[in-house]
Amino acid sequence: MSDFPRFMEPGDEKDISGRITPRDGPVTVRNPHLEHLSEDVLYHLDLSNKANDLPVMFSDVKFVCFGGSPNRMKKFAEFMVKELGVKIPAGMALTNISHGSDRYVLYKVASVLSVSHGMGIPSLSIVFHEVLKLLHYAKCTDVKFFRLGTSGGLGIEPGSVVITEAAVDGLLRPYMEVATLGMVLQHPAFLDKNLCEELLEIANQDKAYKSVIGKTMCTYDFYEGQGRLDGAFCDFTAEDKIAFLKRVHDRGIQNIEMESLCFAAMAHRAALKSAIICCTVVDRLKSDQITASHETLEEWQMRPQRVVAKYIRQQLGLE
Ligand code: URA
Repeated sequence: MSDFPRFMEPGDEKDISGRITPRDGPVTVRNPHLEHLSEDVLYHLDLSNKANDLPVMFSDVKFVCFGGSPNRMKKFAEFMVKELGVKIPAGMALTNISHGSDRYVLYKVASVLSVSHGMGIPSLSIVFHEVLKLLHYAKCTDVKFFRLGTSGGLGIEPGSVVITEAAVDGLLRPYMEVATLGMVLQHPAFLDKNLCEELLEIANQDKAYKSVIGKTMCTYDFYEGQGRLDGAFCDFTAEDKIAFLKRVHDRGIQNIEMESLCFAAMAHRAALKSAIICCTVVDRLKSDQITASHETLEEWQMRPQRVVAKYIRQQLGLE
């Protein structure tokens, strides 16, 4: 028998709450089986540790920025080209490194990776595994992870920015459950408090919108899972919905989305410094439908991008 399940590695620091302290250093994976693979095909990224020279391609990566939509992450990569003053030779364009896979996009701009993760935990989980292995094979060190997302807010003006201090599931439990070999394993979803505060300080410099640190509820569904009345099915009343949303809001939940639990749990398990920063696109205490114009949504989605870009510029000594 092995000692499965096993969460900690020798050398991990754990605080009294069971939190693994995020650390700098090499990006590590926790899978002894990988050593025995003659080739590891990162199928959904269209990369391999044998067919591609991953250290040459990626060893300088320091910041990995995830977001749901491929188009938004392309725009973020283009934005980072400007923010970092990267020169793209005339006639050349930014390349989607994972173009062969058609599942996710992956752009590299200097030390920044911009990656799409699709919608929901299963989609994020797949690309997170492969990005972690990619960084490990590339021998990257001191890497920080960010999720730049959209969410439904609770009691805050749409367009506000929420930085997640802790992610919880639809039952307000602070861990992601994964059915593994017939057992339910619970992976705690802690995030890096210092990074949250650093991002809030930057976000607060823009007075055009409100920024807060709060808890994020992560659900497995956009409609019934988030208490919406406008899905194809609904078994609860408008009163039930408001009572639930007010109850979770009273417990410190500022926004609702569909990836934070997995992002926080996987980053915590890898002892990575990571943060989740989302704009809100609707106040769920007032509406279920997202009715803002395309232009307004574009502007709101730029807010987390600008905050993270500024943080990266500061880290690189460019501010
Ligand atoms: N994303 C979600 O998951 N929910 C919302 O209400 C808005 C964006």
